[in-house]
Amino acid sequence: MSPKDSFEGASDRIGQRLLKWYQKNPARHPWRVQFEPHPDPYVVWVSEIMLQQTVMKAVLKAYPRFLSAFPTVFALAQASPDELQRACAGLGYYRRFALMHRAAQKLVAQKPFRWPSSYDEWILLPGIGPYTGAAIASIAFSEPRAVVDGNVERVICRLLDWRVAPNAPALKKIFLSHAQQLLVEPAGDYNQAIMEFGQNICTPTNPMCHQCPIRGDCLAYERDSQSLAPGPKIKRARMDLALTMRIEQWQGLYHICERDQKSPFLRGIVGFPIERRDAKSPAQKPLGSFKHHITHHNLTVFVYQSKARRKRRSGSYLSKKELTEALTTSLDRKGWKVFQEAMGES
Ligand code: ADE
Repeated sequence: MSPKDSFEGASDRIGQRLLKWYQKNPARHPWRVQFEPHPDPYVVWVSEIMLQQTVMKAVLKAYPRFLSAFPTVFALAQASPDELQRACAGLGYYRRFALMHRAAQKLVAQKPFRWPSSYDEWILLPGIGPYTGAAIASIAFSEPRAVVDGNVERVICRLLDWRVAPNAPALKKIFLSHAQQLLVEPAGDYNQAIMEFGQNICTPTNPMCHQCPIRGDCLAYERDSQSLAPGPKIKRARMDLALTMRIEQWQGLYHICERDQKSPFLRGIVGFPIERRDAKSPAQKPLGSFKHHITHHNLTVFVYQSKARRKRRSGSYLSKKELTEALTTSLDRKGWKVFQEAMGES
């Protein structure tokens, strides 16, 4: 049985049915209520950044906290790294917010201030890739630019019975052109329709085909091959790597700082300094170690205590209580736990 390679004249019908399905019953997410009748680019931007690789429940919790801390792009641009991290606590992948902060600073530095109003302009900003650029350009500026996320890929694979690894690099362009063929206007509604449809109806397992408005055009439905299309993702091998983490005390306070470009991971994010463990690493015995997974690496992190006689110029010094709140990455929290256990304090 061969897959189809195109929608064969059905693309407009599919797009319209998805749009109608969404317009009848859109999820009432807080960012959607806020941008009726006119989408505020800032609100769209915040919600799209938060929704990346993050479960809806965590986003719904963090979203009001973030918007009340930083109600405008100007407030965001002025945030300190600590304030930013507090507002994003619990969301993970902090780099996206560090990049968003940098993008906000770039935007407000323009005089007079002007929102970028097209996809081509948005993707020039830090942290805005094709997905976020298309989402913002379509939702806030009605540009007919299709988004491609995992949901969209799955819907396309099922419609055409593609039993492929959806993350195969060669498919990137093909998904984009197929997604663009399905797009109908208003593009912002359509893009949200297909994503929401993928989240709620055309789910990875046990899709709800009895509720599906496009099953008449779906080859996987016709062949009952929904569990085969798409196929399993290609898994990248993980690399083993050893790191050191330094927890430095000065007068009973603990030092954290923004990890710079030389840091092996979590650059631009505030926490304990980390380095690759090599011959230059401290001869001193570590307090303990922990395991952690991060972007295709299996890390073993050795935690060291150090006591400083002088205060460093960069970073901040926090009490234990302040530190518990300020540490937002699980890497730092695991390191802090090892430290406290070694000190008999947890
Ligand atoms: N996933 C990411 N952004 C979304 C949006 N705007 N609507 C529905 N699902 C999404």
